[in-house]
Amino acid sequence: MLATDYLSFRYQDEDVLHSLSLDFARYPVTGLVGANGCGKSTLFMLLSGLLRPQRGQVLWQGNPLDYSKKGLLALRQRVVTVFQDPDQQLFYTDIDSDIAFSLRNLGVPEAEITRRVDDALTLVDAQGFRQQPIQYLSHGQKKRVAIAGALVMDADYLLLDEPTAGLDPAGRQQMITLIQRIAASGKHVVISSHDIDLIYEICHGIFVIRQGRLVASGTPDTVFQDAQMLHNAGLVQPWLVKLSRLPGFGLYRSEQQLFDSRDQ
Ligand SMILES: Nc1ncnc2c1ncn2[C@@H]1O[C@H](COP(=O)(O)OP(=O)(O)OP(=O)(O)O)[C@@H](O)[C@H]1O
Ligand SMILES: [Mg+2]
Repeated sequence: MLATDYLSFRYQDEDVLHSLSLDFARYPVTGLVGANGCGKSTLFMLLSGLLRPQRGQVLWQGNPLDYSKKGLLALRQRVVTVFQDPDQQLFYTDIDSDIAFSLRNLGVPEAEITRRVDDALTLVDAQGFRQQPIQYLSHGQKKRVAIAGALVMDADYLLLDEPTAGLDPAGRQQMITLIQRIAASGKHVVISSHDIDLIYEICHGIFVIRQGRLVASGTPDTVFQDAQMLHNAGLVQPWLVKLSRLPGFGLYRSEQQLFDSRDQ
């Protein structure tokens, strides 16, 4: 299990996270929402051991995170993060080497690496630009490669910081399908996004952060009913929740569900 316990963090002169106790094991897909600068990316860096909290802790399998080189290596096989900025993630000039890097480090046989890299690139629809040098890729293409690099690890927890930022509508839809498929296979996904409609559609549990503090948590159906709380956190209600207030409309979790209900 992955969780935080009274986690607090400050950069040199700025308190960013305040006493956050969050359980990421409770739901298959957990959404992290909040305004720019509320601390989401900082939290992802704490969860992956890139930053260390001043107070409180990150818990992995019930124990405080082991920050030794060996401990972090073990963690990063099971908890894989796709950071907000793909340039923070991609090191090689060619896509195949970049994605295969972690698997080679683990000593996975080459034949299996080839298969897994190929599958991951297909899943993110990156086969069309696979031969291009990474530095010439567009932002959205780099994002797809960074996501493929995480998918090959087949981790227990996939942490996605703004995975659809910069993706085109087809890429966004692929991401939704991908996350649902990963969750259905028994793994956990934690996702931050400003795409509130996406969060509403794919998450089973939600944490709302405001200025580094937890201000609401629970299922999307309950959390997104509270328009005032969302407004105070710099957020808006998903359009499907707004629609449900109109006469004759129920509360639907996806556009597809809404249209299906109209067909009956
Ligand atoms: N390396 C750093 N040094 C000092 N302050 C930082 C650093 N990185 C982030 N901050 C500050 O910490 C706060 C939280 O930033 P963070 O990037 O975690 O927010 P976020 O919720 O991910 O925002 P966004 O929605 O824009 O991605 C911000 O006020 C930011 O200015
Ligand atoms: Mg961020």
